[in-house]
Amino acid sequence: MTISRREFVCTAAGLATVGLGGGATSLGQVTREKQTDKHGSGGPIIISSGNGEPACNQAFEMLKKGIDPLDAVVAGINLVENDPEDHSVGYGGLPNEDGVVELDSCVMHGPAHKAGAVAALRNISNPSSVAKLVMRRTDHVLLVGEGALRFAKTHGFKEQEMLTDEARRYWLEWKESRSDIDDWLQAKADFHAARGKMEGLEFTYGTITCMALTKTSDLAGCTSTSGLSYKIPGRVGDSPIIGAGLYVDNDIGACGSTGRGEANLQNCSCFMIVEFMRGGMTPEQACLALLKRVADKTEPRLRDENGKPNYGLMFYAVRKDGLFGGASMWGPGKMTVHDGQTCRKIELPSLCGVRPKVVG
Ligand code: GLY
Repeated sequence: MTISRREFVCTAAGLATVGLGGGATSLGQVTREKQTDKHGSGGPIIISSGNGEPACNQAFEMLKKGIDPLDAVVAGINLVENDPEDHSVGYGGLPNEDGVVELDSCVMHGPAHKAGAVAALRNISNPSSVAKLVMRRTDHVLLVGEGALRFAKTHGFKEQEMLTDEARRYWLEWKESRSDIDDWLQAKADFHAARGKMEGLEFTYGTITCMALTKTSDLAGCTSTSGLSYKIPGRVGDSPIIGAGLYVDNDIGACGSTGRGEANLQNCSCFMIVEFMRGGMTPEQACLALLKRVADKTEPRLRDENGKPNYGLMFYAVRKDGLFGGASMWGPGKMTVHDGQTCRKIELPSLCGVRPKVVG
């Protein structure tokens, strides 16, 4: 009987295998012939989440001109933050339960080993640019809420309404569908039919992450998000937390994440993936090993009928030598890569198989 890599990983044997130090079969033995890590011949390379094609193209062009890798990835992410069609980040992002968009972002610069971040930032469309300024123009790493907004305005950022009409309609629909015993009545059926591509997506943890490896093997990364849709105001996820939603070690590699932020906060995920790579794992092995750890530690409330996590989580990693890879809790998951040939999407291996209706 032949078994696909995805099926293998989801079997008990596969799950045991991607655990650290588990069983007689080592991770290296399993994945050597089947692993899908790519490249490995140095930079320049840009990797990003599945929604990162504009970011990859922009950042790659800037890397080619010798621009600092952090400036390159932030400029790339700015494009997606400014896109009203992307409801997971920046302008047009889905709001909190009060209908207010609150944005989180962090950056990390490998050569300087410095980081900056903002959380629960309102009324500013490019939180990644503000995070970069926190890194470069303060002695701090993380500014939140009102303080982050004041800091952004000090640097000339203009306040604007971040809730687009489309995002407001999704939020209103969510609000009206919460309960039969409150005073909010659901809109008529044709309004629901008009949801189009958002059909069935009640919550999202959508995010963008983007990392660069230069020709001279320097690394930088950025993660940006509007966070969990319809969250409790003030909720902060993994995206502005160094080590959770992003980590860069210029001696080893970089890792970014999208999906359920709480899982990354509880597992210091991106930091651990870089540490796994330091220990010799390839990017894909490291991402799968961390997903296995997250899955093992998931509380019963967040498991499906088969005991698997009922949420989405994805990791994207690049090593200093240019090897890149990633993994997803559930398929189909994709990463975007630009390594000088084309900007292309690569399907990620998944720990738990294909489950299209997963939140994340
Ligand atoms: N990963 C984005 C969030 O959970 O906020």
